[in-house]
Amino acid sequence: TRKHDFMVVSNRLPVDRYPSDDGENSEEGWRRSPGGLVTALAPMMTKTDGAWVGWHGAPDEALEPFNHGGMDLIPVDLSTDDVELYYEGFSNATLWPLYHDVIAPPEFHRTWWDSYRRVNRRFADAVIQHADHGATVWVQDYQLQLVPSMLRQARPDLRIGFFNHIPFPPPEIFAQLPWRQAIIEGLLGADLVGFQRPSDAANFMRSARRFIGASVKQQQIHVKGTDGRITHIARAQAFPISIAVDQISELAERPDIIDRARQIRQDLGNPKTILLGVDRLDYTKGIPHRLKAFEELLKEGRLTVEDATLIQVASPSRERVRQYRLLREEIEGTVGHINGSYDTMQNTAVRYLHHSYPIEEMVALYLAADVMLVTALRDGMNLVAKEYVTARTNNTGALVLSEFTGAADQLKQALLMNPHDIDGLKNTIMRAVDLPPNESRRRMKSMRKQILDHDVDHWSAEFLSALAEIVVRDDS
Ligand code: G6P
Repeated sequence: TRKHDFMVVSNRLPVDRYPSDDGENSEEGWRRSPGGLVTALAPMMTKTDGAWVGWHGAPDEALEPFNHGGMDLIPVDLSTDDVELYYEGFSNATLWPLYHDVIAPPEFHRTWWDSYRRVNRRFADAVIQHADHGATVWVQDYQLQLVPSMLRQARPDLRIGFFNHIPFPPPEIFAQLPWRQAIIEGLLGADLVGFQRPSDAANFMRSARRFIGASVKQQQIHVKGTDGRITHIARAQAFPISIAVDQISELAERPDIIDRARQIRQDLGNPKTILLGVDRLDYTKGIPHRLKAFEELLKEGRLTVEDATLIQVASPSRERVRQYRLLREEIEGTVGHINGSYDTMQNTAVRYLHHSYPIEEMVALYLAADVMLVTALRDGMNLVAKEYVTARTNNTGALVLSEFTGAADQLKQALLMNPHDIDGLKNTIMRAVDLPPNESRRRMKSMRKQILDHDVDHWSAEFLSALAEIVVRDDS
């Protein structure tokens, strides 16, 4: 087999198959997934002799390694059982809610854990087979937390990085996980463990101390063997992720997209204010809180459907997981209730769209929106907030942003609020609606500068150079 000197490992490969669900289109193939991570890493993949290891999205289908757009892709196959136990189960019904402040109750099942271990082993084996001696391997996200230590055991020559895209919970919450020790040990196989916020890194270090007795100095975690001697040192540090700024800025200035934004406003009956929410349909996003606040503003007459419409894009996500199905029913019930009560023949209160859209349409929506609502109850970063600000090239508009997002650490000039506080949220929405243009300009300018200086290339370069600085002992 061909060997690679740089490998990225993530649950999903950076490509989607089309046609995705409608079988009518006879054309078939792969296209690159949207998103900053791919944009940032694709050039590196082609420049170095890189490869990306991940699941291709189709259960029970075995695929050989292939090349797409210059990227070498190494598919990992998942059976229907793996999808149910490892992906929907342990990743998204145990870890996801546990790591997001137990907004939904996490479920603990030993069969899910067994599958998580097995599948992590399969990802690690794919890397072990294809990695050149001394290669750099970058493992992504909570679905693959055991991979770093599996790699270190088999291949001490590798330089191993891990990045957690979602929050890392405080030890008081992490303590619930029956397999907490194995997860900490899994992550500590890496040379560098990256997090979104300094507080996530701090939470991880506290858990390492508490649950495996590691000693932590500065950001170094000393892992001891059974004889008490230090066998490995891992470093934990924050690297807040970002977006492909150039791509969004360019789209925001394209005449057809500017026209499309105008069209959207017209189609809604030219409301004075367009409010926008864009989320995966996920209980971490605080969509019910946002709807409740908006409904109360309509009820109290502080807003009317003539002057304000809320566009809520909720892209379908993890639909086979129970909590996601329940949330969809709840949201759709609430939207129906609000629209039934406040719509007129001409105007609608909430334009609800359970779809995902290409980035061009998203940017048109950002341009059309006077107020962006990001009300997540917990979010590792929230890239939608950064995309909105980036798209507002003329420095108009207002961002209402939850304090519980990683983005709030960086976008200090957003209108920050606590989404649990419905009155506070309502007042912040009204403040955004009535924001004086000079204040909006001042805030947008400062946020735009922050994001322009820290795009996703900056993020990956920072992480990889920090990883490169860590000297790897070559035990082989
Ligand atoms: C979050 C996670 C990613 C995940 C994405 C989409 O952003 O951090 O790891 O890929 O959600 O979720 P999905 O389960 O569809 O991959």
